Amino acid sequence: MAYNEMTTNPTALDGDEALQVFLNSGALEWARVQAQNYTRLMAYYRCAMMEIETKFNVLNEEFSLRHDRNPISSIKTRLKSPLSIKNKLERKSLPITLGTIENEVNDVAGIRVVCSFVDDVYMLADALLAQDDIELIARKDYISEPKDSGYRSLHLIVSVPIFLASEKKYMKVEIQLRTIAMDFWASLEHQLRYKKDRAFTDEMARELKTCAEMSAELDSRMDRLRGNLQTE
Ligand code: GTP
Ligand code: MG
Repeated sequence: MAYNEMTTNPTALDGDEALQVFLNSGALEWARVQAQNYTRLMAYYRCAMMEIETKFNVLNEEFSLRHDRNPISSIKTRLKSPLSIKNKLERKSLPITLGTIENEVNDVAGIRVVCSFVDDVYMLADALLAQDDIELIARKDYISEPKDSGYRSLHLIVSVPIFLASEKKYMKVEIQLRTIAMDFWASLEHQLRYKKDRAFTDEMARELKTCAEMSAELDSRMDRLRGNLQTE
């Protein structure tokens, strides 16, 4: 069978012939190039997360030298999985391309900074945003205005340059800053909300909101205690 005939009428092929058509079609080479480009883009996001993580570590170090305590309790980074990226683009009815990933998905690279006190959240955010290589793209303050669920955190989407061998590339990173109490609440709420063996009821949502209010009260009391300690 001629090559042309095989490609225009693939159902007429037996298994070996179909494999030959596939191998000759350039599909494998195409897939290899796509996978390579995707892997490179994800490596850039990992570099951007490292840049941001280092900036927070430097701020933590400097603050602890001046004030003898650490404003950061822990830092976690995560790269969005290919499936989550695909689902997000599909939800937005967008095609899945490297361009749409870069332009339309702001949380491919995510970093969570868990702080000791609420004041530390704002101090660290301000100190990061004051750096001249950081550009703020979006800021959502769910501490001053918690979400309906009760969720509290300060979210920033920033653009940070990464320096490659022959170019400087700007990458977006989602930063979530929150206190230990906010993190405790968010982790448990997430577990309960997405528990597979049990429905998430309105009653549970109400109870969790009360817990969120209690955690906010805990943060305020801790802040007051810290204030008292500082003036002693
Ligand atoms: P996404 O499409 O989920 O990224 O939403 P968005 O772009 O509108 O961002 P949003 O400001 O809602 O923040 C998204 C992220 O914040 C989520 O991926 C969670 O990590 C966190 N988050 C937001 N709301 C809640 C909540 O009610 N509970 C918990 N546990 N986390 C939340
Ligand atoms: Mg998200």
